[in-house]
Amino acid sequence: MLVSSETMQPLQFSNKTHNNKLYIPSLGLTLVLLISLASPASSCTEQEKTSLLQFLTELSWDSGLAASWQNNTDCCKWEGIICRQDRMVAKVMLASKGLEGHISECLGNLTRLQYLNLSHNSLSGGLPLELVSSSSITVLDVNFNQLNGTLHELPSSTPAQPLQVLNISSNLFAGQFPSTTWKAMENLIALNTSNNSFTGQIPTHFCSSSRSLVVLNLCLNKFSGNILQKLGNCSKLRELRAGYNNLSGTLPDELFNTATLEHLSFRNNDLHGAIDSTRTTNLRNLVTLDLGGNRFGGKIPDSIGQLKKLEEFHLDNNKFSGELPSALSNCTNLVAIDLKKNNFSGQLAKVNFSNLPNLKTLDVYFNSFTGTVLESIYSCSNLTALRVSTNKLTGQLSPRLIDLKYLTFLSLTTNSFINIANALHILKSCRNLTTLLIGSNFKGELMPDDNTIDGFENLHVLDIESCKSFGGIPLWISKLRKLEVLILSENQLSGSVPAWIQTLSDLFYLDISNNNLTGEIPTTLMDMPMLKSEKNEAHLDPRVFELPIYAAPSLQYWVPMALRKVLDLSNNKLTGEIPMEIGQLKSLLSLDLSFNHLTGHIPQSSCNLTNLQMLDLSNNNLTVAIPVAPNALHFLSAFNISNNNLEGPIPSGGQFDTFQNSSFDGNPKLCGSVLTHKCDSAEAHQAIILSRKPTDCKVAFVIAFNAFFGVGVLYDQLVLARYFS
Ligand SMILES: *[C@@H]1O[C@H](CO)[C@@H](O)[C@H](O)[C@H]1NC(C)=O
Ligand SMILES: *[C@@H]1O[C@H](CO)[C@@H](O)[C@H](O)[C@H]1NC(C)=O
Ligand SMILES: *[C@@H]1O[C@H](CO)[C@@H](O)[C@H](O)[C@H]1NC(C)=O
Ligand SMILES: *[C@@H]1O[C@H](CO)[C@@H](O)[C@H](O)[C@H]1NC(C)=O
Ligand SMILES: *[C@@H]1O[C@H](CO)[C@@H](O)[C@H](O)[C@H]1NC(C)=O
Ligand SMILES: *[C@@H]1O[C@H](CO)[C@@H](O)[C@H](O)[C@H]1NC(C)=O
Ligand SMILES: *[C@@H]1O[C@H](CO)[C@@H](O)[C@H](O)[C@H]1NC(C)=O
Ligand SMILES: *[C@@H]1O[C@H](CO)[C@@H](O)[C@H](O)[C@H]1NC(C)=O
Ligand SMILES: *[C@@H]1O[C@H](CO)[C@@H](O)[C@H](O)[C@H]1NC(C)=O
Ligand SMILES: *[C@@H]1O[C@H](CO)[C@@H](O)[C@H](O)[C@H]1NC(C)=O
Ligand SMILES: *[C@@H]1O[C@H](CO)[C@@H](O)[C@H](O)[C@H]1NC(C)=O
Ligand SMILES: *[C@@H]1O[C@H](CO)[C@@H](O)[C@H](O)[C@H]1NC(C)=O
Repeated sequence: MLVSSETMQPLQFSNKTHNNKLYIPSLGLTLVLLISLASPASSCTEQEKTSLLQFLTELSWDSGLAASWQNNTDCCKWEGIICRQDRMVAKVMLASKGLEGHISECLGNLTRLQYLNLSHNSLSGGLPLELVSSSSITVLDVNFNQLNGTLHELPSSTPAQPLQVLNISSNLFAGQFPSTTWKAMENLIALNTSNNSFTGQIPTHFCSSSRSLVVLNLCLNKFSGNILQKLGNCSKLRELRAGYNNLSGTLPDELFNTATLEHLSFRNNDLHGAIDSTRTTNLRNLVTLDLGGNRFGGKIPDSIGQLKKLEEFHLDNNKFSGELPSALSNCTNLVAIDLKKNNFSGQLAKVNFSNLPNLKTLDVYFNSFTGTVLESIYSCSNLTALRVSTNKLTGQLSPRLIDLKYLTFLSLTTNSFINIANALHILKSCRNLTTLLIGSNFKGELMPDDNTIDGFENLHVLDIESCKSFGGIPLWISKLRKLEVLILSENQLSGSVPAWIQTLSDLFYLDISNNNLTGEIPTTLMDMPMLKSEKNEAHLDPRVFELPIYAAPSLQYWVPMALRKVLDLSNNKLTGEIPMEIGQLKSLLSLDLSFNHLTGHIPQSSCNLTNLQMLDLSNNNLTVAIPVAPNALHFLSAFNISNNNLEGPIPSGGQFDTFQNSSFDGNPKLCGSVLTHKCDSAEAHQAIILSRKPTDCKVAFVIAFNAFFGVGVLYDQLVLARYFS
């Protein structure tokens, strides 16, 4: 920009008149300008230098900025400073410099400063009013800092402000958003207040004065109350995001007058009402519509088909019902459809998915859709994630599924699909598949175990639970070299626990509980690489699920590694002793061997399982005293050894006294101060000897047992398998 003197500022907002008329210089003035260009001022003014140095002084950590900001040099050459032709500071660009401390109000003394970017630092304290109400600043970005306090009201006489972009998101601001006085923000184009703690009604006053607002991001605050009609006055709005607040009421009709809207998100509020069939068609430019996590209801209107630019369509977690309109197939640009957790019914096949070539994710989890898996979905060759779990779908998978070359995530859980052999033979060819969840289907079928099931090269997560499948644990699973999570619980699988499980070198979550497995626990299981050492985790692909996996209604997992290291063999017919080598599984977090026919003693080596948080050995036929040394297993918070034949004293003192009786119940020969059977002197003596043994573990079975059902995450873990969807 050519600017040479105080009095003439072509193509720039004047700070004197506070309007933004453009001043086009006459020919004569242009000559003056060219002449003055020939002899530019040599250095920045002393006053501007002083203001900047004052800013530097008020920082508690300047990350070495002082080395560049030397009093005896031209401040226009300082790091992060850009001056205009007339040597006045125009830009301060200090994003991501690691700055700490307060933002000095002296920056407001830089009378030609237009652009101030202090984003991504660790600045604290308030945002000086001098900056917000500066008569020169047009762009102010302090995103990602720790600024707090409220935004101040502007003095009532404040003339129109030049500020165009205000980004204060991801800070600690609180309080009500300033109201009427912010009318002076006539030139605001983008306002980003997301991720703060603002309260009160959402700000709309600048809508009446300024028609220029294009971006309004209010997400992740504590705004409440109704959405004001005035928002409709912001007639140039392209992006309106107010998700994750406490907004209530309905969407105002006026909102639908804003034909320019491209992105509209009110996710996770408390809004209700229906999608208006006629008004919706006004929003022809809509690319994103996100109303997820509210109480909206009714049907999706046919007119949705007129939103031809729609790409992201999220109505999940609401009370929508009825059939899907076939017109949805007119939204040919759709990339993501998320309708999970509503009351939709009818045939999914009403929508012709073959019109949606760009579709990447379709999630209809937890509805009441009926019919078979629609043939037309197999035309969406870009599909990467498909979840139809918890519906009323029936029939078999079609061989055309193979056309979904990019499919990485498939969940069919909890429907009434049949023919598991057919399904596996088809799915094995989906070479990009990493997550396959097909449990609660195929009721009572034979678990296929033929050598022709090969493929699944990239499978990380396999869940075939609750199918009442019979047969053995199939050998083809041993070929899934990348398997990390295997869940085969609640079937009727018989035979023994295969020794080859140990060869699955990435497996860290094994749940084969609630089956009819017999024989001994193979010693090789105690060699599972992922359970033996934490070092093995490093090589795991930190892959993110295409869609979050629900382990409980409100518990989501986005990465397999977020699942914990679990070995669950409970509720089978396993016999023999717990392998002595159990102590090798040092990184195991949860071990459940309950409800089997295990005999012998609890191996002393179990004291080496120092990461264990859940240990359940109840309902077996274990004998001999608990090998509990005073200081072992310090993370353990859930513990159950009830209904065995254990005998001797339970250690007393410390956390041990907080155990509930129920974890020891059904062991009539156990004694201890918390039990009805108190130890007699001989038994007590035995306890002392036990704890003095030199081989005893150093750390404690410290048990906050009260927390058994109090520890949310842990409890969720216990029910994990039952809810995988
Ligand atoms: C900034 O300006 C104010 C008055 O507007 C003055 O009191 C203050 O000393 C100035 N600060 C610097 C560092 O120039
Ligand atoms: C910078 O230098 C000037 C004189 O050259 C002096 O008056 C001023 O106090 C100095 N400022 C700082 C912050 O050292
Ligand atoms: C501020 O700087 C950051 C980091 O360079 C950049 O991402 C951001 O777009 C800038 N803000 C503005 C408004 O230009
Ligand atoms: C801002 O945070 C500081 C601590 O960083 C605190 O001392 C101050 O009281 C806070 N101000 C407000 C208005 O919350
Ligand atoms: C702050 O918001 C503005 C306007 O939307 C944007 O241009 C800028 O990049 C954002 N800053 C950061 C650091 O994201
Ligand atoms: C607002 O800021 C958030 C980060 O705090 C960023 O993710 C978002 O993209 C920004 N929005 C705009 C429109 O700049
Ligand atoms: C969908 O498109 C077809 C053909 O382009 C048209 O006949 C039909 O009316 C459209 N439906 C809606 C609801 O827009
Ligand atoms: C699939 O996605 C690619 C880019 O991701 C795009 O070029 C292509 O047009 C999309 N549609 C089809 C049918 O492949
Ligand atoms: C798997 O996906 C990648 C892209 O993520 C693609 O390049 C590759 O062709 C796909 N594999 C198959 C067998 O289609
Ligand atoms: C479990 O296996 C036993 C034989 O080991 C068999 O008698 C029983 O019927 C099986 N139970 C089920 C539910 O499959
Ligand atoms: C526990 O582990 C250590 C090595 O970490 C080993 O020396 C010791 O024998 C183990 N104790 C038992 C009881 O297995
Ligand atoms: C436990 O073992 C004893 C003998 O060791 C046997 O008498 C008893 O029947 C077994 N109980 C169960 C439930 O298996």
